[in-house]
Amino acid sequence: MAHTLLIGFGTETGNSELLAMDAQKKAGEYDIESKCACLEDVKVDDLRLASHLIIVVSTWGDGEQPDNAQDLYDAVEELDDNALNAVNFAILALGDTAFDLFCEAGIQWDELLEKKGGQRFHDRIDCDTDYDDDAEEWIDTVLEKVASSTGK
Ligand SMILES: Cc1cc2nc3c(=O)[nH]c(=O)nc-3n(C[C@H](O)[C@H](O)[C@H](O)COP(=O)(O)O)c2cc1C
Repeated sequence: MAHTLLIGFGTETGNSELLAMDAQKKAGEYDIESKCACLEDVKVDDLRLASHLIIVVSTWGDGEQPDNAQDLYDAVEELDDNALNAVNFAILALGDTAFDLFCEAGIQWDELLEKKGGQRFHDRIDCDTDYDDDAEEWIDTVLEKVASSTGK
C-alpha cells in the first residue's frame, strides 16, 4: 500500500515514539494519509513507496542508533546511491546536549538519506531534552508542507 506519509521512529525509551504518534494524529487533521511505524518494522521498500518520510530518532550509547533503528539503517547503507530519489524526507532528532555526539543518530539518517538520493523537504531539527515546544512547531511546519505538496 502506498502511503503518502510514512512516519518512522527509532527509540529506546519511547520519547520518539510519542512524538511520531503525535505527528500521525496531526497528519489526520491535515487529511494526510499516513502510517506510523517503528523503524524495526519498516522495510527498504516501504521507504521507496512513501512520497514523504519523517524519521523521528533518538541517539543512544556514544552517538549510536537506537537498537530498533540499526537494521534499517544498515539496509539503507547497502542501497545504490540513487535508490531513494523519489523520497522526500525530514528528520526530527532527539538527544541531549550533555553528550559529545549530540543527536548523532539523526544527523546520520539525514546524511544517509541524502546520499541515497532522497530530497530533504525540510531541515532537520536537533532537539535537546526540553523538546516539546520545538518539536511540536517543527511537526506542524512539516505537515503543512506535506499537505500543500500533496494538494490536501
Ligand atoms: C545511556 C544514554 C545514552 C545517550 N547517548 C546520547 C548521545 O550520545 N547523544 C545524544 O544526543 N543523546 C544521548 N542520549 C539522550 C537521548 O537521546 C534522549 O534522552 C532522548 O530523548 C531519548 O529518546 P527515546 O526515548 O526516543 O530513546 C542518551 C541517553 C542515555 C540514557
